[in-house]
Amino acid sequence: MPVPFRVLQFGLGTMGRIITQTLMDRGNLELVGVVDVDPEYAGKSVEEILGSGRKTSTSVFTSLESALHVLGDQPADITLIATLSSLNDIASSISDCFEAGMNVVSLCEELSYPYIRHPELSRNLDGLAKKHGKTVLGTGINPGFLMDLLPICLSAPCQRVDTIHVTRCINSSRRRSSFQKKIGTGMSPEDFKTAISEGAITGHVGLVESIRMIDDALGLELDYVEELPPEPVIASADIETPVADVKKGWVIGLKSTGIGRKDQRNVVTLSFVAHAGATPEFDEVSIEGHPKIVQRIEGGVQGDYGTVGMVLNMIPLVIEAQPGLFTMKDLPCPRNTQSFWRSD
Ligand SMILES: NC(=O)c1ccc[n+]([C@@H]2O[C@H](COP(=O)([O-])OP(=O)(O)OC[C@H]3O[C@@H](n4cnc5c(N)ncnc54)[C@H](OP(=O)(O)O)[C@@H]3O)[C@@H](O)[C@H]2O)c1
Repeated sequence: MPVPFRVLQFGLGTMGRIITQTLMDRGNLELVGVVDVDPEYAGKSVEEILGSGRKTSTSVFTSLESALHVLGDQPADITLIATLSSLNDIASSISDCFEAGMNVVSLCEELSYPYIRHPELSRNLDGLAKKHGKTVLGTGINPGFLMDLLPICLSAPCQRVDTIHVTRCINSSRRRSSFQKKIGTGMSPEDFKTAISEGAITGHVGLVESIRMIDDALGLELDYVEELPPEPVIASADIETPVADVKKGWVIGLKSTGIGRKDQRNVVTLSFVAHAGATPEFDEVSIEGHPKIVQRIEGGVQGDYGTVGMVLNMIPLVIEAQPGLFTMKDLPCPRNTQSFWRSD
């Protein structure tokens, strides 16, 4: 009888809910419990919260401590963290999971390539992972795949790489509500600027991490990596979106650009465009060099579903990996792993 990988999930927000539902339908993964700090969830089961109509009763806990109290030590092979974007905010949860005998995979954007923004924390987490014989990985659709690992892999046939340009164009109305809000949908242009500068909304997170991963993987030795301030995309007419009715002249999303320079030249450019009604949607990698490579995914990958696919597919690969802190460029080629089972 094949044995599923046991998963403890952190975070039952917008992504967390899609992850939970997909996870429960996936034969090779078993959800042992969910941790979310929202006090409204305390004492409830996943089924009560999601209204999934299932007969099983997976519990939701408000802390790892309370989960361990009920589920016992080493309750899962891996913890899937889908909570926050800043590594500082999830670092203690990662350490606690190692202590409890679990590997970690997370959607935290800063964890996708943490070595430059958080050098000391990265070293500490790597050391702690090795001490406990566990592995930690940050992944997702972007950062984690479309704007970093995909261009890295597409550069393989190139004898020479001059520049890399990746563009994502996304109709945000097809994405989760938390995404639509963090790109400013429904704000006035003035409020957008203030909210971005004060950190009240984050915009897209991870362009710098993606460029750093490409730089490291290809040995580009970039002199300078920066993300330009996000620019609002303004509605040219009144438009209804799933999160707000937006008046003409107000914000329907944003454009973000990340640049990696060497010798005053833009070597890596990442253009992230997400707004209500954006058309056509696509993801495109264009590598100038020899031979030149242009890869366009027509329609784009639906980011929320793609994120869930990435994080669930990486679970067996993380569990099988050597101990330590890794990024997507370090682990075996990602793939669909729905037919992978626990080896013992
Ligand atoms: N790499 C990628 O491609 C990718 C793709 C999609 C999303 N993400 C990232 O994934 C994260 C989750 O996204 P989301 O849209 O689901 O966010 P969300 O809707 O804000 O949900 C986050 C959930 O986690 C809970 N939470 C916060 N701190 C926690 C903790 N210490 N322990 C347990 N639960 C905690 C929150 O509770 P409260 O609301 O009570 O605080 C909330 O229920 C975000 O950081 C997002 O940017 C990355």
